[in-house]
Amino acid sequence: MSVRRVFASFCVLLFVGGSFAASNSGGKVWLSDLDLSKTQQGWGEPRKNLSVEGNPLKIAGRTFERGLGTHADSLLCIELNGGSSRFHAMVGVDDEAGTRGSVEFRILADGKQIYKSGLIRSNDPAKEVDVDVAGVQMLVLTVDSGNDMNYDHADWADAYFTVTGTAPKTVDAPREEAVILTPKPSPKPRINSARVFGVRPDSPVLYTIAASGQRPLWFNAENLPAGLSLDRATGRITGQLRRPGEHRITLVATNDLGETRKELRLVVGDTIALTPPMGWNSWNCWGCAVDDRKIRDAADSMVKSGLIHHGWQYVNIDDCWMVRRNSDDATVGGPTRDEAGRILTNKRFPDMKGLTDYVHSLGLKVGTYISPGPWTCAGYEGSWQHEQADAQRFAEWGFDYLKYDWCGYGSIVRQPDLEQMQEPYLFMRMCLTRTNRDIVYSLCQYGMGDVWKWGAQVGGNCWRTTGDITDSWGSMSGIGFAQAELAPYASPGHWNDPDMLVVGMVGWGPSLRDSRLTPNEQYTHISLWCLLCSPLLIGCDLTRLDDFTMNLLTNDEILEVNQDPLGEQAHRVTQDNYREVWTKRMEDGSTAVGLFNRDEVPQTVTAKWSDLHVSGKLRVRDLWRQQDMGVFEGAFGVEVPRHGVVLVRLFPAAQ
Ligand code: GAL
Repeated sequence: MSVRRVFASFCVLLFVGGSFAASNSGGKVWLSDLDLSKTQQGWGEPRKNLSVEGNPLKIAGRTFERGLGTHADSLLCIELNGGSSRFHAMVGVDDEAGTRGSVEFRILADGKQIYKSGLIRSNDPAKEVDVDVAGVQMLVLTVDSGNDMNYDHADWADAYFTVTGTAPKTVDAPREEAVILTPKPSPKPRINSARVFGVRPDSPVLYTIAASGQRPLWFNAENLPAGLSLDRATGRITGQLRRPGEHRITLVATNDLGETRKELRLVVGDTIALTPPMGWNSWNCWGCAVDDRKIRDAADSMVKSGLIHHGWQYVNIDDCWMVRRNSDDATVGGPTRDEAGRILTNKRFPDMKGLTDYVHSLGLKVGTYISPGPWTCAGYEGSWQHEQADAQRFAEWGFDYLKYDWCGYGSIVRQPDLEQMQEPYLFMRMCLTRTNRDIVYSLCQYGMGDVWKWGAQVGGNCWRTTGDITDSWGSMSGIGFAQAELAPYASPGHWNDPDMLVVGMVGWGPSLRDSRLTPNEQYTHISLWCLLCSPLLIGCDLTRLDDFTMNLLTNDEILEVNQDPLGEQAHRVTQDNYREVWTKRMEDGSTAVGLFNRDEVPQTVTAKWSDLHVSGKLRVRDLWRQQDMGVFEGAFGVEVPRHGVVLVRLFPAAQ
């Protein structure tokens, strides 16, 4: 049946029932009677006639019977097809959010902004919106979080269309074609591993030289200190170093097409993770449907796909490898610990040491997860009162990374003060240090107590700054762009962590889907996370990587921005009209600049030298396209697509 005929029958049916809104009350169609599931938002689910948390819609004490309860950053596209004359709503922050919400509502009609609320805060009275939409084909409703998406519960209350013709219909947001911007890596050898690597005295060293280029490749390492040795075929450096100090090693990679050299600064000292960790984590992909096979498959794919050649190295098991409390499911239930108090795996992980050995045998590293509480977020055994034993067990199993997730600890201290927030993290730090293994320590407590201000003091290598990410524009951009104030707290060995990547096939298991981020949003995601010096943990199924996702994850000039040894997190230098310019100083004196467009339509974004604190003639290189754009003086401007980015690096013109 054609769309037109379906619509005609729909009209007749409703008309016969006498209830079609357009036939009475001036053709009123409530927004909340449309399919609201098309709404994309930063947190929670869209709600019909209720707030995002399921309460009656209430703005500054006034209750509304109808409307859409959502959360910034929120986006809803509605096809009007010229059938409506006006749109009305009362907008504001829902009272359930307390006092800290702040949002901006906007309406775009066929790409032109026809309404902008300005910043609305918690407890501001609802603002009335009444706009002319005659002749409009597509209406877009957005709620933006500004700089901080916490508590941004937003209501489009009392929202309705005055319909004169075709009824409004919500539709999916536009999705552009997935264009691969980056040329294929050259067959000539190129060393892609970071220029600096930290190890602790006496800890076992595993460093795999990441290099792309036609195989076979042969490796060499000049000035390798005594205690370390190199496998020339695999590029793996192993061994142990006793004394603190710094070694400058020249890495060499050779194939039939030539030779390349790169200096590596090996720092033997207290600090590891001198560049942000790069790897994969099971959560955004498999959730609790994770098992030994899936981890092995991820590790195999990291090698076979070639990701390993671009510096990807950690394979991290998230929640659900332990025994689940009170579970009837034989694959995850059973005793949680042995008589000696040692933690047990569930049956989906029959041989943890065998698994970690396997991952190591591929030249990769392996990570684990647990909570300081009695149980994890998903209800599996936690470390509470077994911290030292668990740290010891993790070291025996050979783990290289620990994500320590607050979760169940909330039952130990319900409203923690700062000291109570820090205590479990300090304690596990002490336990890990005793193990004599280089275990990257990742704090996960969603940013409580401004963790970025003290994460390094409690010995964390990285700390989550936000709640969980999901694969929506609202979530990713709301989180990513809110990191601007956190730049001063990042440094080598100590990274802000805005959560894991949501490109490729994700789904929190067992079933997966393609990331709902559009291709341009995915470019924005990777660019921003690189500028932010964020740990890069891929969250998708590595066994099913498409060409577009591979391109996103293997552009070495982009990854270099993340892995730069200076470790300086990008700053936002300008923000105007949904355009943002971010800049990151690189060790070699060049500057990486992200030109972002958070708007619903293409915009020209300009970076001015004076804002970037650079001067003179500069060569501008487009990093996604790996192409020089020319020499510019004073400013560089470029058209950036909806939700997209152009990431460039500025070099002195003569270089
Ligand atoms: C959450 C954490 C997620 C994931 C999950 C596992 O608290 O933020 O990243 O680890 O727990 O249950």
